[in-house]
Parts: sequence; structure tokens; C-alpha cells
Amino acid sequence: MRTNIVHIGATELSYEIRGIVSVAEKIEKITEKPIIWENIGDPVQKGTKIPLWMKEIIQNAVQNDEVYAYSPTKGLKKTREFLAEKLNKEGYAQIDPEDIIFFNGLGDAVSKIYGFLRREARVIGPSPAYPTHSSAEAAHSGYPPITYKLDPDRNWMPDLDELYNKVKYNESIAGIMIINPDNPTGAVFPEEILMEIVSIAKKFNLFLISDEIYINMTYNGKGAVPLSKIVDNVPAISLKGISKEFPWPGARCGWIEIYNHHKKPMFENYIKSILNAKMLEVSSTTLPQYVIPEIMTHPEYKNWINERNQFYKKRSEMLFEIFSKVPGITFNPPKGAFYATIVFNEPLDKKMKLEIKHPVVRQYIEEICSNPNLSNDQRFVYYLLGAKNICVVPLSTFVTPLQGFRCTLLEQDDNRFIETYQTIADAIVEYYNSIKVYV
Ligand SMILES: Cc1ncc(COP(=O)(O)O)c(C=O)c1O
Repeated sequence: MRTNIVHIGATELSYEIRGIVSVAEKIEKITEKPIIWENIGDPVQKGTKIPLWMKEIIQNAVQNDEVYAYSPTKGLKKTREFLAEKLNKEGYAQIDPEDIIFFNGLGDAVSKIYGFLRREARVIGPSPAYPTHSSAEAAHSGYPPITYKLDPDRNWMPDLDELYNKVKYNESIAGIMIINPDNPTGAVFPEEILMEIVSIAKKFNLFLISDEIYINMTYNGKGAVPLSKIVDNVPAISLKGISKEFPWPGARCGWIEIYNHHKKPMFENYIKSILNAKMLEVSSTTLPQYVIPEIMTHPEYKNWINERNQFYKKRSEMLFEIFSKVPGITFNPPKGAFYATIVFNEPLDKKMKLEIKHPVVRQYIEEICSNPNLSNDQRFVYYLLGAKNICVVPLSTFVTPLQGFRCTLLEQDDNRFIETYQTIADAIVEYYNSIKVYV
């Protein structure tokens, strides 16, 4: 072409969580055996039943013509008023309805937050990283993500010394990002840790981004501390949504709450640019915004959230029961969100394999795994797919040198959950032992 049309950050975009699906679908077709999907965090796809009272609220809402209209760019005023009042009643950062902007899911918010940041300004985020954030941030800059480590040997707590030093010695870092509760690790960060992050932001004049889509999905006995509680006077953005909590990911509805933007003119200009970008799209989806106040104030809402948290707690304990007996791995039972991350702490080898009985599948997987650029945990994940029809996501695709995989707590059926994870546990043992067995 006459001119290079490829964006400077194009190579930074990757989302293996869905990328692996085409391989899995091919295996499903060859084996005529369904894939057990443990890669995507969609509770509805994994069988969570939406309660009838919630469906009735939505059913009634669709009778109103106004839900078919565009909403104001920032989102429906009534809903923003409701959310601001709710936050203010909780006694944390005081916000105004005008400090809330709705998006078509947090995916949309994330791409604007990083997309409208000055190219040279960087946001440091956790590693392992949730790829929607890390890819969007890296793509905006044209360079790989800048990260601080979450330590699997310390229950996935952040390495604050590393964070401090990276911030101190890299002047391009303008912001710190956290996900609390975290995807992919399931960690919930205690208040002291969050306060340290806030104080680093204060000291170096940075802004904060806190993705709190799982903020009400905890089972650590204490809940998660929202940024609004500890943000003080630091300019910050909190991201919230209904994809996981209702759960209604297909609604494509999330919002940002902006704290302290009037205190820093540059931050305020940045927020204006995000709003102007949204204005070019007119508005976000109206129907889900319309029903948020009624759903969140329904007498069954709290029970619904508690019930699901109890379910994930049970799942987390079941996983601990299974994985605590497996040698060669580190497993921290998740305390929030609905993911688990297993780390291989013994080195993997390119010769390791699982027995794949189906000859066509075996040939297909061996062909994929002959690619020298594949990381060792990607090879494990492909062998697991080929041998057991189970689809998880390699940990190395979450911007980390750690090897392992991410899976979910979402399976509704107890027996199927246990069977799937016992199969994975046995597969890990077989994989480690395969060098001796197969060579
Ligand atoms: C931490 C985190 N943020 C944002 C999202 C995306 O949310 P949405 O469905 O609102 O785009 C996800 C989805 O998995 C997530 O895990």
C-alpha cells in the first residue's frame, strides 16, 4: 500500500481468552465431543440462571418506548443520580451524577481511557494482567505493557517495592491501574495495600484507575475496599458494571466514576476528551441503564449477590481440595471474582505431552505445538484441549513470565465441576511425568 495503514500499537493487541476458541472448535468437530469451556468469564454461558424477578423488571421496562431511544451521552440522569446517591450514602468519596459516564460495557470504557491518553503517558498495571487493559494501554503507546508483579508466593499481593521503583525511575508513568477483586488471580487487596498504592500516586502526582467490576463479588469474609473509600484527593477513575454482577454481559453496560477531577486541570481535560469521544458515538445502550436502579433496590438483590458469593466460595474450596494434592504447582484459592490461576512452579519442558487417543487430534495438536514460539504453558493448554476437550487459558498470555493457566469457578453442576478439575489435576501430573514415560 502507498502508506503504512497499520497502527503503531497493532501488534500489542491480543486476547487469547477468545483466541484459543477456534482451535477448541476444531477439536470439538473432529472428536464430536463437546468442549468444556473454562476460558471465558461469562456466568450466563456457563449456566447461571437469571432470577425471574430480574427478568420481570426487564420485561416491564421493554414496554416503555423511552428505552428504545438514545440516552444522554453520559447516561440516563435518573440512573446516574441513583448511583451517585448510593455511593455517597456509603460515606466514601462524594460524587455528583455528572461525575459518572456510561459506556457500552467496560471494554468500551477501557479503550477510551487508554485511547485518549497522550501517547507518551503510560499506565502501570498488574502482572498477570487482564488483557483488555494491558493490550489497550500498550496499543495506545506502541510499546509493551509496563507492569508490577502480583506475587503467587504471597497470595498474589502486589510487589509494592517494584511498583514504587518503576514509578520513581520511569517518568512516563502517569497512572497506576489496579483490578480489585482481580482477574485473573482472584485476589482481593487489603486496605493497607491499597493505601500504599494511593500514597505512591500522591507522592509522584499520578492518577489511579481501579477496575471494580467484581467489587461486590467476594467471599473472603471481609468484602473488597473500593477506591472511593481511600482515594483521598488523588485524581482517579473507578470502573463498574453489570456484566458480572447481575450478570448481564450481553447488555454491554458499564460506567466510570470520576473522583477529584475538578482538582487537577490536566486530569479534567483528559476526562473531557473521554466524554467528547463518547459524544461522537451519541450514547451507550439505554435499556440496561434504565433497569439498574430497580434491580439494585429489589428486596432480592442482596440475597442474589450473597447466594452467588457463597457458590463461588464453595467452588474455591473445592478447587483447593483438588489442587492442594498436586505437586509442582502453586494454587492460591481465589477470594473474589470467579477465576482461579494455577502456576507451574516446576519447569516445563518442550518434550512434555499428554496422551491423545484420537489420531487426527493428536496430529493437529502436535502440529500446533511444533511452533517453536509457543510458550510451555501454551503447549500444556493445547495438549489439555486435545487430550481432554477442556479449554483453559495459558497464564503467559496475561503478560507474565509465570507459566500456568487461568480457569473459572463458574460450572454450575457440582459433579461436572469436580470431574473437570480432577481431570485437569491428573493431566498436570501426567504432563510432568511424560518425559520419563514417553521418551
Ligand atoms: C476486570 C474486568 N474488567 C472489565 C471486563 C469487561 O467488562 P464488560 O463486559 O463491561 O466489557 C472484564 C470481563 O471479563 C473484566 O474481567
